[in-house]
Amino acid sequence: MAHPALPADFVWGTATASYQIEGAVAEDGRGPSIWDSFARVPGAISDGTNGDRADDHYHRYAADIALMAELGFGAYRFSVAWPRVVPTGTGEVNQAGLDFYRRIAETCHEHGITPWATLYHWDLPQPLEDRGGWLVPETAQAFAEYAALTHEALGDVVSHWITLNEPWCSALLGYGNGVHAPGKQVGSDALKAAHHLLLGHGLAVQKMRASSHDSTLGITLNLYSVRPASGSAADAEAARRTDGMGNRFFLDPVLLGSYPDDVLADAGVQEWFAERSGDLATIAQPLDFVGINYYSRHTAAAPEDGRFADPSIPSATPGSERVVHVDTGADKTFMGWEVHPDGLLDVVAMVAERAPGTPVYITENGAAYDDVVSPDGSVEDEDRRHYLELHAQACADAVAAGLPLRGYFAWSFLDNWEWAFGESRRFGIVRVDYETQERTVKRSGWWFRDLLAAQPKG
Ligand code: FCB
Repeated sequence: MAHPALPADFVWGTATASYQIEGAVAEDGRGPSIWDSFARVPGAISDGTNGDRADDHYHRYAADIALMAELGFGAYRFSVAWPRVVPTGTGEVNQAGLDFYRRIAETCHEHGITPWATLYHWDLPQPLEDRGGWLVPETAQAFAEYAALTHEALGDVVSHWITLNEPWCSALLGYGNGVHAPGKQVGSDALKAAHHLLLGHGLAVQKMRASSHDSTLGITLNLYSVRPASGSAADAEAARRTDGMGNRFFLDPVLLGSYPDDVLADAGVQEWFAERSGDLATIAQPLDFVGINYYSRHTAAAPEDGRFADPSIPSATPGSERVVHVDTGADKTFMGWEVHPDGLLDVVAMVAERAPGTPVYITENGAAYDDVVSPDGSVEDEDRRHYLELHAQACADAVAAGLPLRGYFAWSFLDNWEWAFGESRRFGIVRVDYETQERTVKRSGWWFRDLLAAQPKG
């Protein structure tokens, strides 16, 4: 297949996140985060590992960024660890933390790579969780202050900023079913955590706009392509709920300034949200772009007994506990996620419908596979290469269809510590041997180099 060609100004980047790659958790004044704590809860992480070493990117960032440049990437999306910058969440600032991210940004510039910083990729300072975490509005204020000071300090070297990464995961996996830090199971109250995350986003954007730096600001949402399993009314209802809790509950407040009533009703939280409707004007700040993490599709079906909700189940989808996601028989990755490149167009369209003209970036897309290291040390990850190729083609299709897609970031540059799966899921286009920290570009990484070399030059 010929390489898909995107416009010359299309941004080609690759992405990582602080806790997944940095290691050095106790160095240079970093405070503990909820993931340091959660990873030590027996049984929380499938392979019993934690992020203490991860990819040691804290010490190896210069070589990692040089390798990124060798492959031809034009942008690097990394995240700032809040507990490195403000170790206890509020109050005293740790200059060594800011210095680290300045070094990353400057190294990017030396290689002609544009740094994109995400301010919250899930590593909440533990002292804030001890005071209620995202279930209390004070955390939204604390986030805005941390975001503003980080942006003020680094806005001269970082022009592109993402407030939150995937608030759905922070709220619903963190406080709903508890499979992510902080591991709480508070039922539909998890939607309050979502509200405070979004409030923090809005407050942060307001403060960052007020600074002297003229930056490009956005948020990253994880969106799914959703369709009903059949033409039945019951499956249509299942799809409505899946789309509602997964997509509309985040897109609507951020882009339209309202929560979807049907989702609030499904979860039984209308009253609490009505009392906070005044926050919506803050949440719906004008944005310079919207980031989407796109991985897969859901095909939704009604439960056999017709009951959609069961509050006794610790839930990542309050009000839709019993919705079934059907196995369509399509190819799946090692995560069990269906490969469905055309869905990339669906999720970009969701943003375009609500915010016509706003640039959209795929801020993550990629796949875990069970990589095999050949006797000569190479990794022939044809499955991952193919997944990435299909999605690069989908980007070209989206642009050809007139959708406002302006860039794509491959997840991930390096194999890394994959949250509740620890070191047992590899998403990298570069292999990392965790024992030796050796990096090996996989076949998918070399393919990326060829794809990027084939793009039109601006
Ligand atoms: C996303 C996360 C990212 C990584 C990928 C596989 O939900 O943002 O950190 O875990 O999934």
